[in-house]
Amino acid sequence: MEPKVVRERKEPEARPYEPAKAPVFRRLTAAAIKRRKRRETFPVVTAYDAPFARFAEEAGIDVILVGDSLGNVVLGYDETTPVTMEQMIHHAQAVARGTSRAHVIVDMPFGSYQVSDEEALRNAIRLVKEGGACSVKLEGGVHEAERVKAIARAGIPVVGHIGITPQTAGLGPGYKMRTHRDRLVADARAIEAAGAYAVVLEVVDAEITREISELLSIPTIGIGSGPHCDSQVLVLHDVLGIYSHSPRFAKRYAEFGREATQALRVYADEVRTHAFPD
Ligand code: KIV
Repeated sequence: MEPKVVRERKEPEARPYEPAKAPVFRRLTAAAIKRRKRRETFPVVTAYDAPFARFAEEAGIDVILVGDSLGNVVLGYDETTPVTMEQMIHHAQAVARGTSRAHVIVDMPFGSYQVSDEEALRNAIRLVKEGGACSVKLEGGVHEAERVKAIARAGIPVVGHIGITPQTAGLGPGYKMRTHRDRLVADARAIEAAGAYAVVLEVVDAEITREISELLSIPTIGIGSGPHCDSQVLVLHDVLGIYSHSPRFAKRYAEFGREATQALRVYADEVRTHAFPD
């Protein structure tokens, strides 16, 4: 009888853990952003695609917001309300691909978090897993605190957004500066208590903004709310002069829109006159 051949089972070689696609773990963290409170005033800008996100990162801006202002400045809507999860994921992916170190905050669009804690969490997870978000942002104060808590409890860092909340401003409260001190303070406190690591204050009275910034232990990110915030955020298309309906508080640092029209006019003339190609 043939002796039984005992084959030695070869264990697969141990390889170091190599995440296939997890740039989110190499980026500036929400905890590091939170530590900037009272130490440094940091800039935030929105971005919606890879090249402009890269320009922002190369300019030293390490917190980038894929805002649902996408609806107004890129997709041509009048409001942010129609923006969908699919659109946010599509643009978040581009921003994640265009950057390597920046912390990418992605807005939860209208309708993606209002219905229930479960739906809010499911959509926040999609923004992280499919969109490459490092953290998510949602609008609302006291009334949305439970949603913030549900998402933060699952380990996803959350940014709150109070004052003017553009997703619903057009449906009722409008775009006037927010001056109800008690309500704003209650909203800010509720968002912090729910576990947010930062909060956006949009078009809030500057003195109330100062008070909230002093009260909270998380950074306040101001837009149109005066100078007393821990951080400032602007919409990229306002900064670069691409969007024609910029709010009054936004500052233009370039005139890309005018330059683009001018360059395209020259190109069109050259084609018509056969100067291009030469
Ligand atoms: O969508 C956005 O760009 C924003 C900023 C205005 C804060 O939420």
